[in-house]
Amino acid sequence: MCGIVGYIGYRETQPILIEGLKKLEYRGYDSAGIAVHTGQKLEVTKTVGRLANLENRLTGEPLYGTVGIGHTRWATHGKPSDVNSHPHTDNSLKFSVVHNGIIENYLELKEELVQAGHRFLSETDTEVISHLVAVEYEGDIVKAVQKAVRKMRGAFALGVLTEHEPDRLVAVRYASPLIIGVGEGEKFIASDIPAILEYTRDIYILEDGEMAVLTRDGVELLTIEGNPIAKNVFHVDWDLMTAEKGGYDHFMLKEIHEQPKAYRDTMRGRISEDGRSVVLPELKVTPEHLRGINRVHIVACGTAMHAGMVGKTVIESLARLPVETDVASEYRYRSPIITPETLVIVVSQSGETADTLAALREAKRCGARVLAITNVVGSSVAREADDVIITLAGPEIAVASTKAYTSQLIAFYLFGLYLAQTRGTKSEADIAHVLAAMDSLPEQVEKILAQAETVKGIAEAISKHSNLFFIGRGIDYAVALEGSLKLKEISYIHSEAYAAGELKHGTLALIEEGVPVIALLTQEDLYEKTLSNIKEVKARGADVLGIVNEGHEAEVAKSVDTHFAIPRTLPLLTPALSVVPLQLLSYYASLALGHDVDKPRNLAKSVTVE
Ligand code: F6R
Repeated sequence: MCGIVGYIGYRETQPILIEGLKKLEYRGYDSAGIAVHTGQKLEVTKTVGRLANLENRLTGEPLYGTVGIGHTRWATHGKPSDVNSHPHTDNSLKFSVVHNGIIENYLELKEELVQAGHRFLSETDTEVISHLVAVEYEGDIVKAVQKAVRKMRGAFALGVLTEHEPDRLVAVRYASPLIIGVGEGEKFIASDIPAILEYTRDIYILEDGEMAVLTRDGVELLTIEGNPIAKNVFHVDWDLMTAEKGGYDHFMLKEIHEQPKAYRDTMRGRISEDGRSVVLPELKVTPEHLRGINRVHIVACGTAMHAGMVGKTVIESLARLPVETDVASEYRYRSPIITPETLVIVVSQSGETADTLAALREAKRCGARVLAITNVVGSSVAREADDVIITLAGPEIAVASTKAYTSQLIAFYLFGLYLAQTRGTKSEADIAHVLAAMDSLPEQVEKILAQAETVKGIAEAISKHSNLFFIGRGIDYAVALEGSLKLKEISYIHSEAYAAGELKHGTLALIEEGVPVIALLTQEDLYEKTLSNIKEVKARGADVLGIVNEGHEAEVAKSVDTHFAIPRTLPLLTPALSVVPLQLLSYYASLALGHDVDKPRNLAKSVTVE
């Protein structure tokens, strides 16, 4: 999981590569490098650490040339180090490669190459590729890459340059994303659109098994086998500004504040004009098929999984179908019962998460229909699923997911209602009632955001602790899990989320004087019971923050130390509100501790390895 970028044109390539890599840093940021064809030879500069380190080095010793490739890394094979950074070259230094993905048979290939006299400098799988291309080269870089790729197993998006051919740049895609940008007299490659949006809006999206040969004046599209292919240019109509910070200190804060818009955008055009039904014209699945389903599996990772847990309650309660949820990395290894009557819903912000993609493929292999909820049009998940609901959250840059999660909730509400109306499990009046409540959500989030300063104060107090707990019952438990994950990933404070009634079965032993407990009490039917669990932790000295519905403040104040009230909505919809103060809490706790909020340690935005 890394970011790659490439350029061939008439301008100096170094600044284009660096600016492109800055836009891709969310894909990994433990080292970076570029290779430039100077006209005579290939020159490579690479270094461990953030992109800024590379920039500093290049300021002192710039690379000049109009063709180049660049890479920002998230280590998989070999620790972050100068030598493990990309681009990698062969022993003759005439072939240079940037790679995103994993070559599964690299040890085998490396051994053969070592026996043939090749010397390896790094611990990476990628270095094998540059050697393979060099071995296969007989005067045509395209043919050499094709032959090399045929020997490789795994996932790869590649950019390849050779000193012998200063006017060609080769790109290959196999199970890792790659796009080609088409400009006047210049062409680009990149792992993601924002990297090249400053220069062109016309792109080709490569599919698995496809490659592109870029020259200044054209792009030749081929299969890896060498057969020519035709493709339409995709015109990007969104703005680069939407991928930038827009005045906020961090992308995460900006993205938290963009949630009202993300809710509106995700709902727009999907609710009938009279507000009484859901319309999802993008779905190809027939109503008959949906009526024939007898179970639903929801599969995803991390935060997307937590959205899926809310989705389970939504679908079960609206459409009365049994729903199982599973983390994608476990799903296909537990031999799940998947039949053609199973609907598998995969949820993924990026649409590129390897575990989720593997689960999707397994579900299809077993004959299930797969619906994807994703934020990225043209992503692997979106392309491979039978049906897709795009969440219109816009690009999410901060590693910690916020607006993508809440947009996934909106997508689940819409789809749950659509299933209910198709299967006849809810009346038109019931559906209209939920839709009316959903219509108020954006404004209600704005109301919560207006109290960010209150949350900031609570977060600063919490940041002084090294251990805390989140508790909740029912749908509140799913939100507690998300609140806990968010806090861990960006503030590095250890926290655990528990179904409130479970504490007394062991974990209560950890509650002592002053331990913070964040309790969610938004479900009216579970309110009394959760209050009893709060009393249990209070009796052992816990310092409790209660997240409650408006109207309960006075009463709950008798049982908790601090409280935060969210506007009233239907019980099923509360996650779309109650998670917002928890997102703010994590953000401000991380800030108080001086961490890099948008790029927490050890993580990357898009996890394209299993
Ligand atoms: C946490 C977070 C991750 C992702 C997970 C799946 O804030 O963002 O837990 O939710 O890595 O990623 P996607 O949704 O891209 O499949």
